[in-house]
Amino acid sequence: MRNLFQNLTRRKSAAALLADFNPEDNVHGTNLVRTLQLKDLVSFGIAAIIGAGIFSTIGNASAAGGPGVSLLFIFTAIACGFSALCYAQFASSIPVSGSAYTYAYASFGELVAWIIGWDLLMEYAIGNIAVAISWSDYFTAVLQGVGIGIPEYLTMDFLSASRGYTTAMEALAQGQALSSLPGNIQEAYQAWLKAPAIGGIKLVADIPALGITVLITYLVYIGIKESKRTANLLVLLKLVVILLVITVGAFYVNTDNWSPFAPNGISGILKGVSAVFFAYIGFDAISTTAEECENPQRDLPRAMIYALIICTVLYVILALVLTGMVPYSELAVGDPLAYVFSRVNLDMIAGIVAMSAIVAMASVLLVFQYGQPRIWMTMSRDGLLPSVFSRIHPKYRTPSFATIVTGFVVAVPALFMNLTEVTDLTSIGTLFAFVLVCGGILLLDQRRENTAATNRGFRVPYINGKYTLPLIVLAIVALLFSYNGAEVSSFLSMEGGWEVFQHKLPLIGFIIVAAVMTVLTFTRNLSLIPVLGLLTNLYLMTELGITNWSRFLAWLFLGLIIYFAYGYRNSRLHKAESPLVSQD
Ligand code: ALA
Repeated sequence: MRNLFQNLTRRKSAAALLADFNPEDNVHGTNLVRTLQLKDLVSFGIAAIIGAGIFSTIGNASAAGGPGVSLLFIFTAIACGFSALCYAQFASSIPVSGSAYTYAYASFGELVAWIIGWDLLMEYAIGNIAVAISWSDYFTAVLQGVGIGIPEYLTMDFLSASRGYTTAMEALAQGQALSSLPGNIQEAYQAWLKAPAIGGIKLVADIPALGITVLITYLVYIGIKESKRTANLLVLLKLVVILLVITVGAFYVNTDNWSPFAPNGISGILKGVSAVFFAYIGFDAISTTAEECENPQRDLPRAMIYALIICTVLYVILALVLTGMVPYSELAVGDPLAYVFSRVNLDMIAGIVAMSAIVAMASVLLVFQYGQPRIWMTMSRDGLLPSVFSRIHPKYRTPSFATIVTGFVVAVPALFMNLTEVTDLTSIGTLFAFVLVCGGILLLDQRRENTAATNRGFRVPYINGKYTLPLIVLAIVALLFSYNGAEVSSFLSMEGGWEVFQHKLPLIGFIIVAAVMTVLTFTRNLSLIPVLGLLTNLYLMTELGITNWSRFLAWLFLGLIIYFAYGYRNSRLHKAESPLVSQD
Protein backbone atom coordinates (compact mmCIF):
# COMPACT_ATOMS: atom_id res chain seq x y z
CA MET A 1 0.00 0.00 0.00
CA ARG A 2 1.53 3.31 -1.09
CA ASN A 3 1.64 5.93 1.61
CA LEU A 4 0.53 9.55 1.28
CA PHE A 5 4.07 10.85 0.81
CA GLN A 6 4.76 8.39 -1.99
CA ASN A 7 1.55 9.44 -3.69
CA LEU A 8 2.31 13.13 -3.44
CA THR A 9 5.79 12.65 -4.84
CA ARG A 10 4.87 10.22 -7.62
CA ARG A 11 6.75 11.41 -10.66
CA LYS A 12 6.16 11.08 -14.31
CA SER A 13 9.31 9.85 -15.99
CA ALA A 14 10.59 11.77 -19.02
CA ALA A 15 9.88 8.62 -21.03
CA ALA A 16 6.26 8.61 -19.85
CA LEU A 17 5.89 12.30 -20.67
CA LEU A 18 7.16 11.69 -24.16
CA ALA A 19 5.00 8.58 -24.52
CA ASP A 20 1.92 10.76 -24.04
CA PHE A 21 2.98 12.72 -27.00
CA ASN A 22 3.30 11.07 -30.39
CA PRO A 23 4.35 13.55 -33.05
CA GLU A 24 2.97 11.39 -35.85
CA ASP A 25 -0.46 11.03 -34.31
CA ASN A 26 -2.69 13.65 -35.79
CA VAL A 27 -5.58 11.40 -36.71
CA HIS A 28 -7.06 10.71 -33.32
CA GLY A 29 -7.77 14.29 -32.54
CA THR A 30 -5.42 14.31 -29.59
CA ASN A 31 -2.47 16.19 -31.03
CA LEU A 32 -1.84 19.65 -32.33
CA VAL A 33 -0.35 20.80 -35.63
CA ARG A 34 3.48 21.25 -35.85
CA THR A 35 4.11 24.47 -37.72
CA LEU A 36 6.40 26.62 -35.56
CA GLN A 37 10.03 27.29 -36.52
CA LEU A 38 12.83 29.11 -34.67
CA LYS A 39 11.90 32.55 -35.97
CA ASP A 40 8.26 31.98 -35.03
CA LEU A 41 9.31 30.98 -31.54
CA VAL A 42 11.57 34.00 -31.03
CA SER A 43 8.77 36.17 -32.33
CA PHE A 44 6.34 34.40 -30.02
CA GLY A 45 8.68 35.09 -27.09
CA ILE A 46 9.04 38.77 -27.96
CA ALA A 47 5.29 38.97 -28.39
CA ALA A 48 4.94 37.74 -24.81
CA ILE A 49 7.74 39.77 -23.29
CA ILE A 50 7.43 43.32 -24.65
CA GLY A 51 4.13 44.72 -23.44
CA ALA A 52 2.56 46.44 -20.47
CA GLY A 53 5.84 46.22 -18.54
CA ILE A 54 7.83 48.38 -20.90
CA PHE A 55 4.97 50.54 -22.13
CA SER A 56 3.45 51.19 -18.73
CA THR A 57 4.86 49.89 -15.44
CA ILE A 58 8.42 51.06 -16.26
CA GLY A 59 7.13 54.57 -15.53
CA ASN A 60 6.60 54.07 -11.82
CA ALA A 61 9.76 51.99 -11.52
CA SER A 62 11.82 54.81 -13.06
CA ALA A 63 10.13 57.44 -10.92
CA ALA A 64 11.15 55.51 -7.79
CA GLY A 65 14.62 54.41 -8.83
CA GLY A 66 15.80 57.08 -11.29
CA PRO A 67 18.21 56.18 -14.12
CA GLY A 68 19.59 53.45 -11.83
CA VAL A 69 16.54 51.39 -12.71
CA SER A 70 18.51 50.36 -15.81
CA LEU A 71 20.73 48.35 -13.43
CA LEU A 72 17.64 46.59 -12.11
CA PHE A 73 16.78 45.67 -15.68
CA ILE A 74 20.21 44.09 -16.01
CA PHE A 75 20.03 42.27 -12.67
CA THR A 76 16.54 40.97 -13.41
CA ALA A 77 17.61 39.86 -16.88
CA ILE A 78 20.47 37.89 -15.34
CA ALA A 79 18.05 36.20 -12.91
CA CYS A 80 15.70 35.45 -15.82
CA GLY A 81 18.66 34.26 -17.91
CA PHE A 82 19.56 31.63 -15.30
CA SER A 83 15.97 30.44 -15.29
CA ALA A 84 15.83 30.54 -19.11
CA LEU A 85 18.78 28.16 -19.28
CA CYS A 86 17.02 25.80 -16.85
CA TYR A 87 13.75 26.11 -18.75
CA ALA A 88 15.68 25.45 -21.93
CA GLN A 89 17.14 22.21 -20.59
CA PHE A 90 13.72 21.01 -19.50
CA ALA A 91 11.98 22.13 -22.68
CA SER A 92 14.60 20.44 -24.78
CA SER A 93 14.54 17.16 -22.87
CA ILE A 94 10.78 17.02 -22.29
CA PRO A 95 9.29 18.65 -25.38
CA VAL A 96 5.62 18.51 -24.48
CA SER A 97 3.17 21.30 -23.64
CA GLY A 98 2.80 22.42 -20.06
CA SER A 99 5.78 24.60 -19.27
CA ALA A 100 7.14 24.51 -15.71
CA TYR A 101 4.27 22.28 -14.68
CA THR A 102 5.49 19.43 -16.87
CA TYR A 103 9.05 19.87 -15.72
CA ALA A 104 8.02 19.80 -12.08
CA TYR A 105 6.08 16.57 -12.67
CA ALA A 106 9.30 14.98 -13.90
CA SER A 107 11.52 16.32 -11.16
CA PHE A 108 9.60 17.04 -7.94
CA GLY A 109 6.54 14.85 -8.34
CA GLU A 110 2.82 15.40 -8.49
CA LEU A 111 2.11 17.74 -5.59
CA VAL A 112 4.74 20.30 -6.55
CA ALA A 113 3.72 19.94 -10.20
CA TRP A 114 0.17 20.80 -9.23
CA ILE A 115 1.36 23.75 -7.18
CA ILE A 116 3.33 25.05 -10.15
CA GLY A 117 0.46 24.50 -12.56
CA TRP A 118 -1.82 26.37 -10.19
CA ASP A 119 0.81 29.02 -9.81
CA LEU A 120 1.24 29.47 -13.54
CA LEU A 121 -2.35 30.63 -13.57
CA MET A 122 -0.98 33.67 -11.76
CA GLU A 123 1.57 34.25 -14.48
CA TYR A 124 -0.61 33.71 -17.50
CA ALA A 125 -4.16 34.55 -16.50
CA ILE A 126 -3.59 37.12 -13.75
CA GLY A 127 -0.74 38.59 -15.81
CA ASN A 128 -3.15 38.96 -18.67
CA ILE A 129 -5.63 40.75 -16.44
CA ALA A 130 -2.87 43.33 -15.83
CA VAL A 131 -2.12 43.59 -19.53
CA ALA A 132 -5.81 43.94 -20.43
CA ILE A 133 -6.19 46.75 -17.88
CA SER A 134 -3.12 48.60 -19.25
CA TRP A 135 -4.33 48.03 -22.79
CA SER A 136 -7.62 49.63 -21.88
CA ASP A 137 -5.82 52.68 -20.40
CA TYR A 138 -3.86 53.30 -23.60
CA PHE A 139 -6.90 52.57 -25.75
CA THR A 140 -9.06 55.11 -23.95
CA ALA A 141 -6.25 57.69 -24.08
CA VAL A 142 -5.92 57.24 -27.86
CA LEU A 143 -9.68 57.52 -28.31
CA GLN A 144 -9.67 60.71 -26.27
CA GLY A 145 -6.79 61.98 -28.40
CA VAL A 146 -9.02 61.73 -31.49
CA GLY A 147 -11.96 63.29 -29.70
CA ILE A 148 -13.96 60.19 -28.74
CA GLY A 149 -14.81 60.22 -25.04
CA ILE A 150 -16.10 57.19 -23.14
CA PRO A 151 -17.57 57.76 -19.65
CA GLU A 152 -14.90 57.01 -17.01
CA TYR A 153 -17.09 54.52 -15.21
CA LEU A 154 -16.98 52.34 -18.34
CA THR A 155 -13.18 52.39 -18.61
CA MET A 156 -12.06 52.10 -15.00
CA ASP A 157 -11.96 49.09 -12.74
CA PHE A 158 -14.36 48.95 -9.82
CA LEU A 159 -11.67 48.77 -7.12
CA SER A 160 -9.69 51.79 -8.34
CA ALA A 161 -12.88 53.84 -8.63
CA SER A 162 -14.15 52.90 -5.19
CA ARG A 163 -10.77 53.43 -3.48
CA GLY A 164 -10.11 56.68 -5.34
CA TYR A 165 -13.54 57.96 -4.36
CA THR A 166 -12.90 57.16 -0.69
CA THR A 167 -9.50 58.90 -0.81
CA ALA A 168 -11.02 61.93 -2.51
CA MET A 169 -13.86 62.13 0.04
CA GLU A 170 -11.36 62.02 2.92
CA ALA A 171 -9.32 64.80 1.32
CA LEU A 172 -12.42 66.89 0.65
CA ALA A 173 -13.54 66.42 4.27
CA GLN A 174 -10.18 67.86 5.36
CA GLY A 175 -10.84 70.92 3.27
CA GLN A 176 -8.59 70.13 0.28
CA ALA A 177 -9.74 71.12 -3.20
CA LEU A 178 -10.53 68.34 -5.68
CA SER A 179 -8.28 69.97 -8.25
CA SER A 180 -5.30 69.68 -5.88
CA LEU A 181 -5.55 65.88 -5.84
CA PRO A 182 -3.61 63.60 -8.25
CA GLY A 183 -5.23 63.10 -11.66
CA ASN A 184 -6.02 59.42 -11.13
CA ILE A 185 -7.86 60.20 -7.86
CA GLN A 186 -9.90 62.90 -9.57
CA GLU A 187 -10.81 60.47 -12.35
CA ALA A 188 -11.81 57.78 -9.87
CA TYR A 189 -13.94 60.26 -7.96
CA GLN A 190 -15.75 61.36 -11.11
CA ALA A 191 -16.20 57.79 -12.31
CA TRP A 192 -17.76 56.75 -9.02
CA LEU A 193 -20.02 59.80 -8.82
CA LYS A 194 -21.33 59.49 -12.36
CA ALA A 195 -21.73 55.72 -12.43
CA PRO A 196 -25.31 54.42 -12.45
CA ALA A 197 -26.25 52.13 -9.58
CA ILE A 198 -28.46 49.06 -9.35
CA GLY A 199 -29.67 48.07 -5.89
CA GLY A 200 -27.03 50.34 -4.33
CA ILE A 201 -24.18 48.74 -6.31
CA LYS A 202 -22.28 51.14 -8.55
CA LEU A 203 -21.84 49.94 -12.12
CA VAL A 204 -18.17 50.70 -12.70
CA ALA A 205 -16.35 48.36 -15.05
CA ASP A 206 -13.47 48.31 -17.51
CA ILE A 207 -15.38 47.50 -20.70
CA PRO A 208 -12.46 47.91 -23.18
CA ALA A 209 -10.45 45.38 -21.11
CA LEU A 210 -13.35 42.95 -21.47
CA GLY A 211 -13.65 43.65 -25.21
CA ILE A 212 -10.00 43.02 -26.05
CA THR A 213 -9.92 39.83 -23.99
CA VAL A 214 -12.93 38.45 -25.84
CA LEU A 215 -11.40 39.34 -29.21
CA ILE A 216 -8.03 37.77 -28.43
CA THR A 217 -9.62 34.66 -26.96
CA TYR A 218 -11.54 34.24 -30.21
CA LEU A 219 -8.30 34.45 -32.25
CA VAL A 220 -6.66 31.83 -30.08
CA TYR A 221 -9.75 29.66 -30.27
CA ILE A 222 -9.78 29.56 -34.06
CA GLY A 223 -6.29 28.20 -34.29
CA ILE A 224 -2.53 28.32 -34.32
CA LYS A 225 -2.14 29.40 -37.96
CA GLU A 226 -4.18 32.53 -37.52
CA SER A 227 -2.63 33.23 -34.13
CA LYS A 228 0.90 32.71 -35.45
CA ARG A 229 0.45 35.06 -38.39
CA THR A 230 -1.13 37.68 -36.19
CA ALA A 231 1.63 37.36 -33.59
CA ASN A 232 4.41 37.71 -36.19
CA LEU A 233 2.85 40.84 -37.61
CA LEU A 234 2.26 42.37 -34.19
CA VAL A 235 5.84 41.71 -33.11
CA LEU A 236 7.29 43.37 -36.18
CA LEU A 237 5.25 46.52 -35.55
CA LYS A 238 6.25 46.49 -31.89
CA LEU A 239 9.98 46.25 -32.58
CA VAL A 240 9.83 49.04 -35.14
CA VAL A 241 8.16 51.35 -32.65
CA ILE A 242 10.55 50.52 -29.81
CA LEU A 243 13.48 51.24 -32.12
CA LEU A 244 11.80 54.49 -33.14
CA VAL A 245 11.49 55.53 -29.50
CA ILE A 246 15.14 54.71 -28.87
CA THR A 247 16.57 56.41 -31.96
CA VAL A 248 14.43 59.56 -31.87
CA GLY A 249 14.55 59.74 -28.06
CA ALA A 250 18.36 59.53 -28.06
CA PHE A 251 18.52 62.98 -29.70
CA TYR A 252 16.59 64.46 -26.78
CA VAL A 253 18.62 62.92 -23.97
CA ASN A 254 20.02 65.47 -21.56
CA THR A 255 22.81 63.71 -19.70
CA ASP A 256 22.28 66.01 -16.69
CA ASN A 257 19.14 63.96 -16.03
CA TRP A 258 21.32 60.91 -15.36
CA SER A 259 22.86 62.54 -12.34
CA PRO A 260 22.31 61.48 -9.62
CA PHE A 261 22.10 58.00 -11.12
CA ALA A 262 20.32 56.44 -8.15
CA PRO A 263 18.61 59.38 -6.41
CA ASN A 264 16.75 57.20 -3.90
CA GLY A 265 19.53 54.70 -3.35
CA ILE A 266 19.30 50.94 -3.75
CA SER A 267 15.97 50.80 -1.95
CA GLY A 268 14.49 53.22 -4.51
CA ILE A 269 15.70 51.04 -7.36
CA LEU A 270 14.37 47.90 -5.70
CA LYS A 271 10.88 49.40 -5.47
CA GLY A 272 10.67 48.63 -9.17
CA VAL A 273 11.24 44.88 -8.85
CA SER A 274 7.65 43.86 -9.55
CA ALA A 275 7.29 46.22 -12.52
CA VAL A 276 10.65 45.36 -14.04
CA PHE A 277 10.24 41.64 -13.59
CA PHE A 278 6.76 41.88 -15.08
CA ALA A 279 8.38 43.36 -18.18
CA TYR A 280 10.44 40.17 -18.65
CA ILE A 281 7.70 37.66 -18.04
CA GLY A 282 6.87 35.75 -21.16
CA PHE A 283 10.04 34.11 -22.47
CA ASP A 284 9.02 30.93 -20.67
CA ALA A 285 5.71 30.91 -22.55
CA ILE A 286 7.73 29.70 -25.54
CA SER A 287 8.06 26.33 -23.84
CA THR A 288 4.28 25.85 -23.93
CA THR A 289 4.43 25.46 -27.70
CA ALA A 290 6.56 22.32 -27.58
CA GLU A 291 3.94 20.18 -29.31
CA GLU A 292 3.56 22.64 -32.13
CA CYS A 293 7.26 23.16 -32.99
CA GLU A 294 8.94 21.51 -35.93
CA ASN A 295 12.12 20.85 -33.93
CA PRO A 296 11.50 21.51 -30.24
CA GLN A 297 14.79 20.12 -28.91
CA ARG A 298 16.93 22.42 -31.01
CA ASP A 299 14.68 25.47 -31.28
CA LEU A 300 13.07 25.91 -27.86
CA PRO A 301 16.29 26.64 -25.93
CA ARG A 302 17.63 28.92 -28.64
CA ALA A 303 14.38 30.83 -28.96
CA MET A 304 14.13 31.50 -25.22
CA ILE A 305 17.66 32.78 -24.96
CA TYR A 306 17.52 34.88 -28.14
CA ALA A 307 14.23 36.50 -27.09
CA LEU A 308 15.60 37.30 -23.66
CA ILE A 309 18.80 38.84 -25.01
CA ILE A 310 16.96 41.00 -27.55
CA CYS A 311 14.53 42.30 -24.93
CA THR A 312 17.23 43.00 -22.35
CA VAL A 313 19.22 45.14 -24.75
CA LEU A 314 16.10 47.07 -25.74
CA TYR A 315 14.95 47.56 -22.13
CA VAL A 316 18.23 48.84 -20.77
CA ILE A 317 18.59 51.33 -23.61
CA LEU A 318 14.95 52.38 -23.24
CA ALA A 319 15.30 52.93 -19.50
CA LEU A 320 18.34 55.15 -20.10
CA VAL A 321 16.61 57.07 -22.90
CA LEU A 322 13.47 57.69 -20.83
CA THR A 323 15.33 58.84 -17.74
CA GLY A 324 17.62 60.93 -19.96
CA MET A 325 14.78 62.70 -21.74
CA VAL A 326 12.96 64.00 -18.64
CA PRO A 327 13.75 64.23 -14.93
CA TYR A 328 13.03 60.79 -13.47
CA SER A 329 10.40 62.07 -11.03
CA GLU A 330 8.10 63.01 -13.92
CA LEU A 331 7.83 59.43 -15.11
CA ALA A 332 5.15 58.27 -12.66
CA VAL A 333 2.57 58.09 -15.45
CA GLY A 334 0.73 55.18 -17.04
CA ASP A 335 2.04 55.95 -20.54
CA PRO A 336 5.71 56.96 -20.02
CA LEU A 337 6.86 56.18 -23.57
CA ALA A 338 4.25 58.48 -25.09
CA TYR A 339 4.61 61.02 -22.28
CA VAL A 340 8.31 61.73 -22.86
CA PHE A 341 7.59 62.67 -26.46
CA SER A 342 4.72 64.99 -25.52
CA ARG A 343 7.13 66.62 -23.08
CA VAL A 344 9.56 67.46 -25.88
CA ASN A 345 6.64 68.60 -28.08
CA LEU A 346 6.74 65.65 -30.46
CA ASP A 347 3.01 64.96 -30.24
CA MET A 348 2.98 63.06 -33.49
CA ILE A 349 5.53 60.54 -32.17
CA ALA A 350 3.67 60.40 -28.85
CA GLY A 351 0.53 59.43 -30.79
CA ILE A 352 2.35 56.75 -32.79
CA VAL A 353 3.82 55.32 -29.60
CA ALA A 354 0.45 55.26 -27.88
CA MET A 355 -1.16 53.49 -30.84
CA SER A 356 1.64 50.96 -30.96
CA ALA A 357 1.33 50.31 -27.23
CA ILE A 358 -2.18 49.13 -27.97
CA VAL A 359 -0.79 46.76 -30.57
CA ALA A 360 2.08 45.62 -28.34
CA MET A 361 -0.14 44.75 -25.44
CA ALA A 362 -2.60 42.96 -27.67
CA SER A 363 0.21 40.65 -28.74
CA VAL A 364 1.10 39.88 -25.10
CA LEU A 365 -2.52 39.02 -24.48
CA LEU A 366 -2.46 36.76 -27.49
CA VAL A 367 0.52 34.74 -26.34
CA PHE A 368 -0.68 34.31 -22.76
CA GLN A 369 -4.22 33.47 -23.83
CA TYR A 370 -2.59 30.87 -26.03
CA GLY A 371 -0.32 29.45 -23.32
CA GLN A 372 -2.76 29.08 -20.44
CA PRO A 373 -5.17 26.60 -22.10
CA ARG A 374 -2.22 24.43 -23.12
CA ILE A 375 -1.06 24.16 -19.52
CA TRP A 376 -4.57 23.17 -18.48
CA MET A 377 -4.71 20.71 -21.35
CA THR A 378 -1.58 18.99 -20.09
CA MET A 379 -2.82 18.94 -16.50
CA SER A 380 -6.08 17.47 -17.68
CA ARG A 381 -4.30 14.73 -19.64
CA ASP A 382 -2.62 13.83 -16.36
CA GLY A 383 -5.99 13.62 -14.64
CA LEU A 384 -5.36 16.59 -12.35
CA LEU A 385 -8.15 18.52 -14.06
CA PRO A 386 -11.37 17.17 -15.62
CA SER A 387 -10.91 15.67 -19.10
CA VAL A 388 -12.93 18.41 -20.76
CA PHE A 389 -9.88 20.68 -20.37
CA SER A 390 -7.97 18.56 -22.89
CA ARG A 391 -10.74 18.43 -25.47
CA ILE A 392 -9.38 19.44 -28.89
CA HIS A 393 -11.64 21.27 -31.32
CA PRO A 394 -12.32 18.96 -34.29
CA LYS A 395 -11.89 21.70 -36.87
CA TYR A 396 -9.50 24.25 -35.34
CA ARG A 397 -7.33 21.68 -33.52
CA THR A 398 -7.06 23.89 -30.42
CA PRO A 399 -7.94 23.09 -26.79
CA SER A 400 -11.38 24.61 -27.17
CA PHE A 401 -12.97 24.34 -23.73
CA ALA A 402 -9.78 25.37 -21.91
CA THR A 403 -9.46 28.39 -24.22
CA ILE A 404 -12.98 29.56 -23.44
CA VAL A 405 -12.46 29.12 -19.69
CA THR A 406 -9.24 31.17 -19.96
CA GLY A 407 -11.25 33.90 -21.65
CA PHE A 408 -13.65 34.04 -18.70
CA VAL A 409 -10.90 33.84 -16.09
CA VAL A 410 -9.19 36.89 -17.59
CA ALA A 411 -12.12 38.94 -18.84
CA VAL A 412 -14.27 38.93 -15.73
CA PRO A 413 -11.63 40.06 -13.16
CA ALA A 414 -10.26 42.57 -15.72
CA LEU A 415 -13.58 44.38 -15.33
CA PHE A 416 -12.98 45.25 -11.69
CA MET A 417 -9.42 44.47 -10.50
CA ASN A 418 -6.63 46.96 -9.78
CA LEU A 419 -3.48 47.09 -11.95
CA THR A 420 -0.78 47.26 -9.28
CA GLU A 421 -2.22 44.39 -7.32
CA VAL A 422 -2.48 42.08 -10.30
CA THR A 423 1.03 43.02 -11.46
CA ASP A 424 2.45 42.20 -8.03
CA LEU A 425 0.61 38.89 -7.85
CA THR A 426 1.79 37.95 -11.32
CA SER A 427 5.40 38.74 -10.51
CA ILE A 428 5.49 36.84 -7.22
CA GLY A 429 3.79 33.78 -8.74
CA THR A 430 6.09 33.72 -11.73
CA LEU A 431 9.23 34.19 -9.66
CA PHE A 432 8.16 31.22 -7.58
CA ALA A 433 7.75 29.11 -10.72
CA PHE A 434 11.26 30.15 -11.81
CA VAL A 435 12.70 29.20 -8.41
CA LEU A 436 11.15 25.75 -8.71
CA VAL A 437 12.34 25.25 -12.28
CA CYS A 438 15.93 25.98 -11.23
CA GLY A 439 15.49 23.63 -8.26
CA GLY A 440 14.16 20.98 -10.63
CA ILE A 441 17.33 21.04 -12.71
CA LEU A 442 19.40 20.59 -9.56
CA LEU A 443 17.27 17.62 -8.55
CA LEU A 444 17.50 15.98 -11.96
CA ASP A 445 21.26 16.52 -11.97
CA GLN A 446 21.52 14.86 -8.58
CA ARG A 447 19.51 11.91 -9.77
CA ARG A 448 21.57 11.77 -12.97
CA GLU A 449 18.39 11.46 -15.00
CA ASN A 450 19.79 11.69 -18.45
CA THR A 451 17.31 10.25 -20.87
CA ALA A 452 18.36 9.66 -24.43
CA ALA A 453 16.40 12.78 -25.27
CA THR A 454 18.25 14.83 -22.67
CA ASN A 455 21.62 13.76 -23.99
CA ARG A 456 20.78 14.99 -27.46
CA GLY A 457 19.15 18.18 -26.29
CA PHE A 458 20.38 21.30 -24.55
CA ARG A 459 22.00 21.14 -21.11
CA VAL A 460 22.73 23.96 -18.67
CA PRO A 461 26.52 24.40 -18.84
CA TYR A 462 27.97 22.81 -15.71
CA ILE A 463 30.14 25.09 -13.59
CA ASN A 464 31.05 23.57 -10.25
CA GLY A 465 29.72 25.93 -7.57
CA LYS A 466 31.76 24.36 -4.74
CA TYR A 467 34.05 27.34 -4.20
CA THR A 468 32.49 29.94 -6.47
CA LEU A 469 29.17 30.18 -4.63
CA PRO A 470 30.65 30.58 -1.12
CA LEU A 471 32.99 33.24 -2.55
CA ILE A 472 30.08 35.10 -4.16
CA VAL A 473 28.11 34.93 -0.91
CA LEU A 474 31.09 36.20 1.12
CA ALA A 475 31.66 39.05 -1.33
CA ILE A 476 27.99 40.13 -1.13
CA VAL A 477 27.98 40.01 2.67
CA ALA A 478 31.21 42.05 2.79
CA LEU A 479 29.80 44.62 0.35
CA LEU A 480 26.59 44.89 2.35
CA PHE A 481 28.44 45.54 5.59
CA SER A 482 30.80 48.07 4.08
CA TYR A 483 28.34 50.07 1.94
CA ASN A 484 24.98 49.52 3.57
CA GLY A 485 25.91 49.07 7.24
CA ALA A 486 23.03 51.23 8.48
CA GLU A 487 20.41 49.11 6.72
CA VAL A 488 22.05 45.91 7.93
CA SER A 489 21.91 47.17 11.54
CA SER A 490 18.27 48.18 11.22
CA PHE A 491 17.50 44.75 9.77
CA LEU A 492 19.22 43.02 12.67
CA SER A 493 17.55 45.23 15.29
CA MET A 494 14.54 43.80 17.12
CA GLU A 495 12.86 47.18 17.67
CA GLY A 496 9.28 47.72 16.56
CA GLY A 497 7.89 44.33 17.58
CA TRP A 498 5.81 42.13 15.28
CA GLU A 499 4.62 45.09 13.19
CA VAL A 500 8.17 45.61 11.95
CA PHE A 501 9.38 42.02 12.22
CA GLN A 502 6.73 40.57 9.89
CA HIS A 503 8.11 42.64 7.02
CA LYS A 504 11.50 41.03 7.54
CA LEU A 505 10.15 37.49 7.24
CA PRO A 506 10.64 37.07 3.46
CA LEU A 507 14.28 38.20 3.72
CA ILE A 508 14.91 35.97 6.73
CA GLY A 509 13.52 33.05 4.74
CA PHE A 510 15.82 33.95 1.87
CA ILE A 511 18.89 34.11 4.11
CA ILE A 512 18.12 30.64 5.48
CA VAL A 513 17.64 29.17 1.99
CA ALA A 514 20.81 30.89 0.76
CA ALA A 515 22.80 29.45 3.67
CA VAL A 516 21.45 25.95 3.09
CA MET A 517 22.11 26.15 -0.66
CA THR A 518 25.67 27.36 -0.06
CA VAL A 519 26.39 24.39 2.20
CA LEU A 520 24.75 21.94 -0.24
CA THR A 521 26.66 23.44 -3.16
CA PHE A 522 29.92 23.08 -1.27
CA THR A 523 29.28 19.51 -0.13
CA ARG A 524 27.65 18.19 -3.32
CA ASN A 525 29.40 20.19 -6.05
CA LEU A 526 26.08 21.59 -7.28
CA SER A 527 25.88 23.24 -10.67
CA LEU A 528 26.36 26.99 -10.23
CA ILE A 529 23.86 28.33 -12.79
CA PRO A 530 20.70 26.68 -11.42
CA VAL A 531 21.75 27.54 -7.86
CA LEU A 532 22.24 31.18 -8.80
CA GLY A 533 18.92 31.11 -10.68
CA LEU A 534 17.15 29.77 -7.62
CA LEU A 535 18.72 32.33 -5.30
CA THR A 536 18.39 35.41 -7.52
CA ASN A 537 14.72 34.75 -8.25
CA LEU A 538 14.01 34.00 -4.60
CA TYR A 539 15.72 37.24 -3.65
CA LEU A 540 13.53 39.18 -6.09
CA MET A 541 10.51 37.55 -4.41
CA THR A 542 11.60 38.90 -1.05
CA GLU A 543 11.41 42.43 -2.44
CA LEU A 544 7.68 42.06 -3.07
CA GLY A 545 6.59 42.64 0.52
CA ILE A 546 4.65 40.73 3.12
CA THR A 547 1.21 41.64 1.75
CA ASN A 548 1.99 40.01 -1.57
CA TRP A 549 3.49 37.03 0.20
CA SER A 550 0.30 36.60 2.24
CA ARG A 551 -1.88 36.78 -0.87
CA PHE A 552 0.42 34.39 -2.67
CA LEU A 553 0.31 31.87 0.19
CA ALA A 554 -3.49 32.16 0.36
CA TRP A 555 -3.60 31.42 -3.36
CA LEU A 556 -1.40 28.35 -2.91
CA PHE A 557 -3.60 27.16 -0.06
CA LEU A 558 -6.69 27.40 -2.26
CA GLY A 559 -4.85 25.39 -4.89
CA LEU A 560 -4.06 22.67 -2.37
CA ILE A 561 -7.72 22.38 -1.41
CA ILE A 562 -8.62 21.85 -5.07
CA TYR A 563 -5.83 19.32 -5.54
CA PHE A 564 -6.88 17.21 -2.58
CA ALA A 565 -10.54 17.48 -3.54
CA TYR A 566 -9.99 16.44 -7.18
CA GLY A 567 -6.51 15.87 -8.61
CA TYR A 568 -5.15 13.61 -5.89
CA ARG A 569 -7.83 10.98 -6.54
CA ASN A 570 -8.19 11.42 -10.28
CA SER A 571 -4.52 11.60 -11.17
CA ARG A 572 -3.72 9.21 -14.00
CA LEU A 573 -0.64 7.98 -12.21
CA HIS A 574 -2.71 7.33 -9.12
CA LYS A 575 -5.42 5.45 -10.98
CA ALA A 576 -3.07 3.37 -13.05
CA GLU A 577 -0.43 2.63 -10.42
CA SER A 578 1.36 1.56 -13.52
CA PRO A 579 5.01 1.46 -14.63
CA LEU A 580 4.53 5.11 -15.62
CA VAL A 581 5.00 5.97 -11.96
CA SER A 582 8.60 6.78 -11.28
CA GLN A 583 9.83 6.59 -7.67
CA ASP A 584 13.26 6.68 -6.21
N1 ALA B 1 6.12 40.93 -20.09
C1 ALA B 1 4.76 41.13 -20.36
C2 ALA B 1 4.39 42.56 -20.36
O1 ALA B 1 5.20 43.38 -20.02
C3 ALA B 1 3.90 40.36 -19.42
O2 ALA B 1 3.28 42.90 -20.70
